[in-house]
Amino acid sequence: MRVVILGCGGFVGSHLLDNLLGDESYLIEGWDPEDRKIRGHLDNPRFTFHRSVANSPEALVEVERAVRECDVVINLAAICNPSDYNTRPVSVIHASLFDVYPVIQLCAKYRRWLVSFSTSEVYGRTLASYLPAGTYDDPDLYELREDETPLVMGPIQNQRWSYACAKQMAERLVYAHHAEDGLPFTIVRPLNFFGPRMDYIPSRDGDGVPRVLACFMAALMSGQPLQLVDGGQARRTIVSIHEAVDAIRRMLERPAAAQNQAFNIGNPHNEVTMAELADLMRRTYAKITGDRRFDDHPIVTVPAERFYGPGYEDCDRRMPDIGKAQRLLGWTPTMTLPEILLETMRAYHEAYAVPEAV
Ligand code: UGA
Repeated sequence: MRVVILGCGGFVGSHLLDNLLGDESYLIEGWDPEDRKIRGHLDNPRFTFHRSVANSPEALVEVERAVRECDVVINLAAICNPSDYNTRPVSVIHASLFDVYPVIQLCAKYRRWLVSFSTSEVYGRTLASYLPAGTYDDPDLYELREDETPLVMGPIQNQRWSYACAKQMAERLVYAHHAEDGLPFTIVRPLNFFGPRMDYIPSRDGDGVPRVLACFMAALMSGQPLQLVDGGQARRTIVSIHEAVDAIRRMLERPAAAQNQAFNIGNPHNEVTMAELADLMRRTYAKITGDRRFDDHPIVTVPAERFYGPGYEDCDRRMPDIGKAQRLLGWTPTMTLPEILLETMRAYHEAYAVPEAV
């Protein structure tokens, strides 16, 4: 199978390459301005890598040729870090919508299958969050179902929604080209994939505020308190990157089942509040380092406005219905949160906290 991957050098792309290049039947052509996470694959004869963005006019000529020749295009390119959504929303919207549109058009022109990475953020906030407390008892008001749940976002000055809204528009464009031109598509809505190489550590290999796992890791490794935004009551479900990549592989191998569907890819059994995640991570770090003092590592709360700046608003809860992925792909994630954290935090610890070449 010939696969084009746009944004192949990021967290998801690097794990997808690990998986697909392990199988001789895959030939992959990828674009990314960064190669740090995929250096181990650059010499693989079944992988052609372009160290550039895919949307420049020069690159688009090559991308068009690759789209014409391939069986499937997987688009992973995006700016998908919440600290960017309210601080550089123009870039965020461009990356998820305008930069993606030429690729959607090419796939429509050649009727090539487009696997379009979207986000669980397209659901926005749950209906339950707008109702009096206690309404989380009713799954109809909080469970996220691909083909039923309304997509609910806040006002435009709450720029947190810039990303969610751009991704939703991209989903609608994909669907519109399917309806009007017969574009075969699959939309993937990831729900908090965790794993090694997920994010940078501030002041080590990146700047700004990464996602929560790297924020908590950075704090643990530097002896700073873990910071809970607005008390850490937001809830997330966590799924292992390895199981998430397995879901993508199953899509590629079951085109009849996977095409023309949107899929939630997440693990509903691994739900935590951010306060619970902080506690679990400090205890896991105590195990990894053998230093029991981390069991009581300080945790503080900070207002969202101070942590992210104005315009941040949070998704309250993301509980996916994964029945469709189970039914059509035969996919059921089983890795528990403690298992995922142990693997991921150990990898971060080895990459950043262990002195080199001991
Ligand atoms: C992000 C992206 O926006 C999604 O598109 C993406 O699908 C998702 O990550 C993902 O990894 O799948 P979010 O879950 O809000 O969404 O990202 P995080 O930055 O990891 O934040 C999670 C929660 O932790 C939020 O409530 C945030 O306020 C909180 N947080 C973050 C803290 O309490 N402390 C921190 O130090 C950092």
